[in-house]
Amino acid sequence: METVLVTGSSGFIGFYTAKALLDRGYFVVGYDNMNDYYDVQLKKTRTDILTEYENFVFYKADICDETKLEEVAAKYHIDYIIHLAAQAGVRYSLTCPEKYIETNIVGTFRILELCRRYQISHLMYASSSSVYGDAEEEKLTIDLKTDSPVSLYAATKKSDEILVHAYCNNFGINGVGMRFFTVYGPMGRPDMAYWKFTDKILTDESIEVFNYGKQYRDFTYIDDLMDGVLGLFFHCKELESGAGTYEIYNIGSGNPVELMTFIESIEEVIGKEANKIMCEKRTGDVEKTYADITDIQKICSFFPMTHVKDGLEKFYRWYREYNKKDV
Ligand SMILES: NC(=O)c1ccc[n+]([C@@H]2O[C@H](COP(=O)([O-])OP(=O)(O)OC[C@H]3O[C@@H](n4cnc5c(N)ncnc54)[C@H](O)[C@@H]3O)[C@@H](O)[C@H]2O)c1
Repeated sequence: METVLVTGSSGFIGFYTAKALLDRGYFVVGYDNMNDYYDVQLKKTRTDILTEYENFVFYKADICDETKLEEVAAKYHIDYIIHLAAQAGVRYSLTCPEKYIETNIVGTFRILELCRRYQISHLMYASSSSVYGDAEEEKLTIDLKTDSPVSLYAATKKSDEILVHAYCNNFGINGVGMRFFTVYGPMGRPDMAYWKFTDKILTDESIEVFNYGKQYRDFTYIDDLMDGVLGLFFHCKELESGAGTYEIYNIGSGNPVELMTFIESIEEVIGKEANKIMCEKRTGDVEKTYADITDIQKICSFFPMTHVKDGLEKFYRWYREYNKKDV
């Protein structure tokens, strides 16, 4: 049985990734420090689901903890790493920059060192659409310049890409990067706008609509995203060990939606209008993300089909059940 180390396995995307691999018969080592950036109970709920699988083991530990990582690598023969642990969120990087440097840069360095020292030659890792900054181009293609990040979060994600590139080149690791575009869905992240808007609409609090609603996001439903992650995983597995290839792909829906339209969809799903306060653009936010997904489509069957309203309905159905359970 092949073994995959999934970092950030208690997180939103890490959970779905680990589960998809477990369902396909892989042995998964989950690794997550379960920090309290958002609701720890939600991270526990996700982890509990994974723990039900016989072919899953979990380490509650930090990716900066070199000793713990070595312990894991010495105990299990790790064939592949999917590195998703990160300090996520653009806003929090304005107030807590250290966390981003520690986890996203030092932590990624520790993962790369693990690859080098234990000859783990296949590494997939998460980057972000935020690396494109405020690009002038309509569609964000992989070859665009990404050296003008507008947030520290984006700067750390770009740094990850560069670090991985150097390690691939120097040590024969095959690195496959994934630039994710605003992922949403059931078991998602409470710090993200769709969850916060839902909370506030239900409790009659006002919501702030930044840039007067004139922002576009390439919202990507989690099931669609997973088609891309798995497709790239099967591609990555086929890369010859020691070849030192470096590849990077956008994983988005390729269908940007205006923020106001997104909010209207949430209102329709909940059946209640939001009290909206129109505000200026926030520091760190980009105006538009629009993923060019032609590169990944050459590699695997990736056709994101979920309409934003359908995805939000699925999220809201889960959200109501989850909050009922909490009461
Ligand atoms: N969700 C999105 O829209 C989105 C968009 C672009 C990129 N990404 C990237 O995708 C990856 C997964 O994001 P997510 O939405 O699942 O976020 P998440 O916050 O739900 O998951 C990240 C997980 O990493 C864990 N973690 C954080 N610091 C750690 C550390 N030092 N050691 C061990 N574990 C640690 C957290 O506890 C969390 O469970 C991240 O790299 C993120 O930057 C996400």
